[in-house]
Amino acid sequence: MNFKKWFKISLSWALGFVMLFAAVDPALSMEKIDIDRFISPETCQGCHDKIFEQWENSMHNLSHKDPVYLRTAQFLRKGLINEGEIKEAESCVKCHTPVGVVTGFPEKLSDDLSKTPEIATQGIQCDYCHSAVTIKQMYNNGLVLKPGQGEDEPGIKYGPFDDPIPDFHEAQYSKMHTESKICGTCHDVKHLAFGTNLETTYTEWKNSPYNSKDPEKKIECQGCHMYQRPGIPSTGSTPRPENPGSATDYSDERPHLFTHYFVGANSSVPGSFEARDKGRMAIERLQNAATLFVDTSLIKQKKINITVANTGAGHSIPTGVGDLRQVWLEITIQDKASKIIFQTGALNDKHELSRDAVIFRTVFGDEKGNEVINIAKAKQVLKDNRIKAKQSVIEIIDLPLVPRKDAMIIVRLLYRGMPRKILNMIPGKPFEPLPIIEMAKVQKQI
Ligand code: HEC
Ligand code: HEC
Ligand code: HEC
Ligand code: HEC
Ligand code: HEC
Repeated sequence: MNFKKWFKISLSWALGFVMLFAAVDPALSMEKIDIDRFISPETCQGCHDKIFEQWENSMHNLSHKDPVYLRTAQFLRKGLINEGEIKEAESCVKCHTPVGVVTGFPEKLSDDLSKTPEIATQGIQCDYCHSAVTIKQMYNNGLVLKPGQGEDEPGIKYGPFDDPIPDFHEAQYSKMHTESKICGTCHDVKHLAFGTNLETTYTEWKNSPYNSKDPEKKIECQGCHMYQRPGIPSTGSTPRPENPGSATDYSDERPHLFTHYFVGANSSVPGSFEARDKGRMAIERLQNAATLFVDTSLIKQKKINITVANTGAGHSIPTGVGDLRQVWLEITIQDKASKIIFQTGALNDKHELSRDAVIFRTVFGDEKGNEVINIAKAKQVLKDNRIKAKQSVIEIIDLPLVPRKDAMIIVRLLYRGMPRKILNMIPGKPFEPLPIIEMAKVQKQI
């Protein structure tokens, strides 16, 4: 064997070894992690009881059990035959049941979910976020984990303190945990086969003034969502005071303890799991997200101008599943005797919203440009008129008549989690009507 050939063979062996080791280290590859390595949230509760109570029955804790998600997902999966559509429709568990996916079951939505191990049913949990070491991709849950070996050897928990004095587990400062990125990897969703941007909360934030180069002005996701507590919504338009306290009963006090309520806009699902405090906090958040202005100077020309400003959210309103969320204007004109003489944006007796309502949302389409309600079939974004962070939109409303003097105009900005029409299509026990939250209201005498 000549030297060149020997050198080539040795080199390929060396490369092979390097790749083998990379594949063996679960932190570097996507190798399945043994489920016993994850520690249950109840164990963390033993010391971090206040943080546990905040997280318990939050939408992160409920992401797998949430009946609105689960029944919608199973409904959207039905009857699909296109391979790309099936791939997407099966992938929901990746973010909604993340401990299950990284430990091997469930791998897809159509697996028998009743066999999901107890710990995986607890959604996005303590040991999932606090074992994250790096990010593989900034969408579709690209978190790379390095959990310990279970309770006997809990390993390192990564967090915001650079001087932790833990017991039980080791602890280490992680810059990633202080940045929007750790949230963004799940809060940006791309269609697995078609690449369509299905959810873009992180990208919306990244392109917003909240992602400022000036550290004084920069507000990460945590800066709003992990400062909220009852009575303190912590939005872009309300104070976000620090929350001094200690991580355990016996630890030293810290200037700020990040809260773990993870409250967005969903008030009904936490409410139905006995977490009414989180439901109320979602309402407080929505009520401090947007501002309405009503200009009636053109009323003689049968027009009113309504401005909706996103003053409180670090992303579009609505964000997340922007195709499902309904944020719309209800406009009512009453005469002197409070009789309604004009109205748009009201619900019919089936709780459905009329098509002529001014509604802020995303609309997905197939390749031909026809609207689709199933995200698995979404090949393009047909429309996105949601209100971007720190921006406003003006809607000019045409009236059928010139209201008389003394008429009253009432404009409300309303929020609902999902269209009634879609909930009505889902087989099984009918859903309770979802609550309608008044985000803002202006009442004006003409
Ligand atoms: C036996 C008590 C105990 C248990 C159980 C426990 N912790 Fe801790 N943990 C502590 C103490 C003490 C600290 C340090 C607090 C400080 O320095 O202010 C801490 C700190 C932390 C930190 C901050 C680390 C940093 O550097 O920022 C994280 C994150 C954390 N724990 C997560 C967890 C998770 C997740 C679990 C469950 C898997 C858990 N802890 C279970 C006692 C415990
Ligand atoms: C969605 C991910 C996520 C989940 C789930 C989560 N945490 Fe955290 N946690 C964070 C982040 C991010 C921070 C730090 C925020 C920052 O520095 O901006 C944090 C901070 C902490 C800290 C430091 C003290 C504090 O509050 O500031 C402790 C301790 C902690 N978490 C424990 C827990 C426990 C216990 C649970 C489960 C009951 C849990 N976490 C669930 C993301 C998470
Ligand atoms: C400046 C404060 C602020 C920042 C920063 C912020 N949010 Fe929000 N967030 C809000 C407000 C206010 C709402 C309620 C209005 C709404 O739904 O858009 C909200 C709602 C949400 C919702 C519920 C969406 C819906 O409409 O149903 C999610 C999910 C969310 N935020 C995630 C994030 C993530 C992830 C980040 C970081 C990439 C982030 N937020 C940054 C203020 C903020
Ligand atoms: C492992 C994936 C994952 C990570 C990481 C993650 N989230 Fe979430 N988050 C979800 C999922 C999935 C839901 C929706 C659960 C549902 O509605 O069924 C959610 C829900 C939420 C909600 C509630 C939305 C509502 O409509 O009320 C907020 C707020 C939120 N996340 C903020 C954050 C913040 C802030 C971070 C970073 C500290 C973060 N998330 C990290 C997956 C994740
Ligand atoms: C990359 C992560 C990710 C994947 C994959 C994912 N989701 Fe979600 N999902 C989220 C996040 C984050 C939210 C919270 C956004 C919000 O509140 O608007 C959410 C919220 C939802 C909600 C709203 C639930 C409620 O209670 O209002 C539904 C419905 C939903 N997802 C359906 C699905 C379906 C169906 C799939 C699979 C086709 C899927 N999701 C896949 C991250 C994901």
